[in-house]
Amino acid sequence: MADNGDKTHFGYKTVEADKKAEMVADVFHSVASKYDLMNDLMSFGVHRYWKRFTIECAAARPGMKVLDLAGGTGDLTRKFSQLVGEKGEVVLADINDSMLKVGRAKLQDQGVVSNVNYVQANAEALPFPDNHFDIITIAFGLRNVTEKAKALASMQRVLKPGGKLLVLEFSKPLNPMMQKAYDFYSFQVIPRMGSMVAGDAESYQYLSESIRMHPDQETLKQMMLDAGFDQADYVNMTNGVVALHRGYKF
Ligand SMILES: C[S@@+](CC[C@H](N)C(=O)[O-])C[C@H]1O[C@@H](n2cnc3c(N)ncnc32)[C@H](O)[C@@H]1O
Repeated sequence: MADNGDKTHFGYKTVEADKKAEMVADVFHSVASKYDLMNDLMSFGVHRYWKRFTIECAAARPGMKVLDLAGGTGDLTRKFSQLVGEKGEVVLADINDSMLKVGRAKLQDQGVVSNVNYVQANAEALPFPDNHFDIITIAFGLRNVTEKAKALASMQRVLKPGGKLLVLEFSKPLNPMMQKAYDFYSFQVIPRMGSMVAGDAESYQYLSESIRMHPDQETLKQMMLDAGFDQADYVNMTNGVVALHRGYKF
């Protein structure tokens, strides 16, 4: 289904396109306080490895400007803040104020303050100047965006020439046996875990469905090229359960 028509998908449901952002917002308002704990439980801590690899590929250096888009509770922001140092800047941008509040409180507790700014923004219409950031990351965020093509074009616009976009997202497992086990885990275990830990099975049912509706590796790579990136590639992790897409602007 095109994501720029009147209808779009919210997990497996077909909904009015202009209602999806609100529905996604309800999911993240509901899970914000238990978001970090659920990530560790659901992924057995492996999300930390996926994020570490993303940070390594970003190769942030002192003085750089980094946008952690859909940054939520700030796992990537924390690392970037250390890497870019006092002369650099990290913007943690997210559409959802509950996620931003949890993220800001967590980072302030950890002493991450001086070079981080928090911005409530929709990835589809980024409120930043052209050619502004050296690095943009969007981790487990693009799946939730209604108009992905528009969001990718917006990221391309605010990225500096010579900069790179890193899209960390669930993707399509390479091995069919892996897919079966993963389907069982996603639909039989994760919503129950969501119910027990976050008191919300539905949001975690949405998580599993939205992963299945997200473009696969090659489709997303082509979408990045269509959005104006001069080169794009990707690396599969955990047998393609997750992929890191990289987009370059020359
Ligand atoms: C699964 S969380 C990921 C958070 C964090 N990046 C991480 O990896 O832990 C997805 C985040 O995307 C945000 N989000 C969803 N739609 C968005 C949009 N259109 N623009 C910006 N952020 C969005 C949500 O509010 C949520 O915080």
